Amino acid sequence: MISKNLEKAINAQINAELWSAYLYLSMSMHFAHAGYAGIANWFAVQFKEEQDHATIFMNYLNSRDGKVVLEPIAGVDTEWESPLAAFAATLNHEQKVTAMINELNALAIENKDYATQANLQWFITEQIEEEETARGFIDALKMIGDNGYGLYMFDKELAARTYTTPAPLANN
Ligand code: FEO
Repeated sequence: MISKNLEKAINAQINAELWSAYLYLSMSMHFAHAGYAGIANWFAVQFKEEQDHATIFMNYLNSRDGKVVLEPIAGVDTEWESPLAAFAATLNHEQKVTAMINELNALAIENKDYATQANLQWFITEQIEEEETARGFIDALKMIGDNGYGLYMFDKELAARTYTTPAPLANN
């Protein structure tokens, strides 16, 4: 059975992942309304991925005889002044999530909970990708600036993103 302090911390992480999902859904809706169908698509896929992250943690807590407790999800922003502002907010948020995952891992080490450490490995790797992707988009958007054709092509590129089930859920 999982320790009470880890159970509490994982429940906080589940809430954070669901909040992330809500944030990216809000970004998706904002950009759909603003005429950026590709960026809206990218954030819609991100919305699904964040729900998957919450599901992976919920499945894990259940498997360790912990109790999942779903708390209220706080409100999110609904406006971003540009795609660059949204991806800067994304990077900022993902850096906070990375810090939370690292804290969880530190707690698992302190508890000598090897199963939780193993479960967190997938998330540690995932966070590298989450930050790297956001940083790449920020760099591209800085280069594009106000160039309309550049923004059009950027939006087109993000329209190509499709959803795939993450490995920890693939066999469920
Ligand atoms: Fe669930 Fe974007 O980290």
